[in-house]
Amino acid sequence: QRLELALESIEKGGYEHFMLKEIFEQPRSILDSMRGRMIAENNHLMMGGIREYENKFANAQRILIVACGTSWHAGLVAEYLIEDLARIPVEVEYASEFRYRNPIVNENDIVIAISQSGETADTLAAIELAKSKGATIFGICNVVGSSIARATDAGAYTHAGPEIGVASTKAFTAQVTVLTLIAMMIGSKRGTIETTKLHELIAELEQIPAKVEQTLKLDKQIEEIAAIYKDATNFLYLGRGYNFPVALEGALKLKEISYIHAEGYPAAEMKHGPIALIDEQMPVVVIATKDSSYEKIVSNVQEVKARKGKVIAIVTEGDTTIPSMADHVIEIPETSEHLMPLLSVVPLQLLSYHIAVMRGCNVDQPRNLAKSVTVE
Ligand code: AGP
Repeated sequence: QRLELALESIEKGGYEHFMLKEIFEQPRSILDSMRGRMIAENNHLMMGGIREYENKFANAQRILIVACGTSWHAGLVAEYLIEDLARIPVEVEYASEFRYRNPIVNENDIVIAISQSGETADTLAAIELAKSKGATIFGICNVVGSSIARATDAGAYTHAGPEIGVASTKAFTAQVTVLTLIAMMIGSKRGTIETTKLHELIAELEQIPAKVEQTLKLDKQIEEIAAIYKDATNFLYLGRGYNFPVALEGALKLKEISYIHAEGYPAAEMKHGPIALIDEQMPVVVIATKDSSYEKIVSNVQEVKARKGKVIAIVTEGDTTIPSMADHVIEIPETSEHLMPLLSVVPLQLLSYHIAVMRGCNVDQPRNLAKSVTVE
């Protein structure tokens, strides 16, 4: 048993938990997921798995994305990316719903299945269904040789390395990295993305590992915020545009490891219901980085403050407007809004981690959850 414990502590590389280690590995896992697929100096994008299907992707009438949990959130980010950069309609489906609702799928469809483990039963069943209807299946998996990787026609691996913590962290950012490259590749093939814009994005993406590194330096500050809210019973997470899926992901991270009830919402939906929940007891995490919806989210913050909610705002460095209203401000580096989820999710991962540790929860193996859900 002592030997087992010693081995585990070596595997954790000096971190108290696998989850923390994996959060801190993100600069490397993002880099590994783009390595060899993007050469910034000559603006070159190349993904072996996609090459053969490049024309099919470029001519697709529609792309369907199937996944579960965190991988589904990565799929939502991909919907924004692909529709914006490649102008192909995208539908993101929970694999569990897709498989049972007699969906319309045909030979011209491309189905992207996203899964860290590559063993999720619902995602696998959704793939089989789409395959039986003649669609082309493209997989994005982390585990090499997994069932989903084997069931797909083609695919691209996320090179996140083994993810042990049940709460997915580095797999999410690796998935978003690969999906960003795919959206850029299809967009460039279809001519729906201007060359200067493409070059800007490539240059920005190259900077992301360093900017994640910079974001991780906020750990201590985030731990202090966690100490203030660790006993809250509810949390609301709000974001717009590319940060909406990040709000969902932040809420999922908090509930699965700290057992605090949390909901993620697109900020503008607040007025259609969740605003009724806001009072001085309610921490509201607002992802309000400088992007095309910034002005709108400023009004959402004002709405929360008018009801005395406690605002924890994730903002772009140098912002002064939201900090003048929020109770706590976490400043992250500036980047293109297309890439922002890769940065804005990091403080949310750390916040849920610290809250869970302070509540004495089993961070790496939360109750009732398994790393791969191989049952339906
Ligand atoms: C994420 O933190 C969860 N543990 C869970 O939602 C997970 O993302 C989901 O079960 C899908 O797993 P997969 O990526 O291995 O298919």
